[in-house]
Amino acid sequence: MGEVIILRVKTVTFKLGLLGLGTVGTGTAQILLDPAQRHPLLQELEIHRVGVRSLDRPRALELSPSLLTTDLEAIVTDPAVEIVVEVMGGLEPARSLILQAIAHGKHVVTANKAVIARFGDEIFTAANQAGVYVLLEAAVGGGIPIIQPLKQSLGVNRIQAVTGIVNGTTNYILTRMQQEGADFGEVLAEAQRLGYAEADPTADVDGLDAADKIAILASLAFGGRIKLQDVYCEGISRITAADITYADRLGFVIKLLAVARRNDAPGTEDTLQIRVHPTLVPKEHPLASIHDVFNAILVEGDPIGQVMFFGRGAGAGPTASAVVSDILSITALLKSTGKTSGGAHPLLACSHQHYCTVAPIEDLVTRFYARFLTQDYPGVIGKLGTCFGDRDVSLESVVQIGFQNDMAEIVVVTHDVREGNFRSALDAIRTLPTIKEIPSVLRVLQH
Ligand code: HSE
Repeated sequence: MGEVIILRVKTVTFKLGLLGLGTVGTGTAQILLDPAQRHPLLQELEIHRVGVRSLDRPRALELSPSLLTTDLEAIVTDPAVEIVVEVMGGLEPARSLILQAIAHGKHVVTANKAVIARFGDEIFTAANQAGVYVLLEAAVGGGIPIIQPLKQSLGVNRIQAVTGIVNGTTNYILTRMQQEGADFGEVLAEAQRLGYAEADPTADVDGLDAADKIAILASLAFGGRIKLQDVYCEGISRITAADITYADRLGFVIKLLAVARRNDAPGTEDTLQIRVHPTLVPKEHPLASIHDVFNAILVEGDPIGQVMFFGRGAGAGPTASAVVSDILSITALLKSTGKTSGGAHPLLACSHQHYCTVAPIEDLVTRFYARFLTQDYPGVIGKLGTCFGDRDVSLESVVQIGFQNDMAEIVVVTHDVREGNFRSALDAIRTLPTIKEIPSVLRVLQH
């Protein structure tokens, strides 16, 4: 009898085309090339091509030069590629390449919140027609699983609200301001020097990155498409050390929150509020203790109640973890159904097509904090009170904190009021000759 030789041949079932080999692309390749002790399906994945901007750039990861190409279109049209992984960022050519990949029957995994928040409609319509999946776990919250839970694990709940700290840069800046009593400008400059903030920090500090992310989360939570222009957005650049100190005295920390909430007041049912703005968060609220670059997302649903997701919202490893989890989900599905297309799994595909109605910010009912610099004359507080009272704005507290350059500093906190009424009161207050400035107006999160 001859000896029986068992040949162990690695089964390569699924070929991936990677678009981008920057921070996230490198992290993704690192996981794929080191599958030991991870899910066994990873061993059935192969990086087939990697699209890069330049072949000559020094790289953190040594890949076979034959894998690299600058011809990104060749990847999304390559008949051998089954899953295109878009981790290049930016709007174009990322959007066009995703659409081309879909048109060529590829499934797509993307970390690109900016493209999905702006062109999700076009992309998911194309994906549904082509019968392919577009998954985006990495687009929100980096390594935090939130997209899949909203689609699947929490899918039986009627979601009332999703409230998140979804931008690490701004959370880092606000944390440092709070810890050191420093002003925004100096902390930003240091964060840039240390590489925690981008050279052009606009998308982060103006809240635009968080707006993209909450638009995506709202779409999943409430089962409809969201127009990005309906998301109200304010950044953190006007927050001062004084506001952080006063907030602290009143029992709050200031956080940049992204909020998507179903309205329930009579007459506003079936509308949503979707907004990003710095917010006074009660110190005992679970989001108050999320510091530095960490992200957290609090989901409130019926019947689950509150569930919070916490972790690193950016960085090579965490983001790549989310990217590869999407690759794994598609691979598992294709393997179990034996099909490469027909991507209509009801828990993975995007099936909604209508747009959600988002209520204007003027209709928001919330508490406010406002800081005024006024002349220190008798009757100033009375005049402020009259402007508010005349517009149905009820005050919870009015405190004269001290003086700044001979001006009295007055901090007002309201009860729940309609934002339109509050703004109208501020317009009236601005016309008072004794009011010099209204440096800060911030919303207060309910307990
Ligand atoms: N710029 C983002 C942040 C990370 O600071 O959280 C990528 O989404």
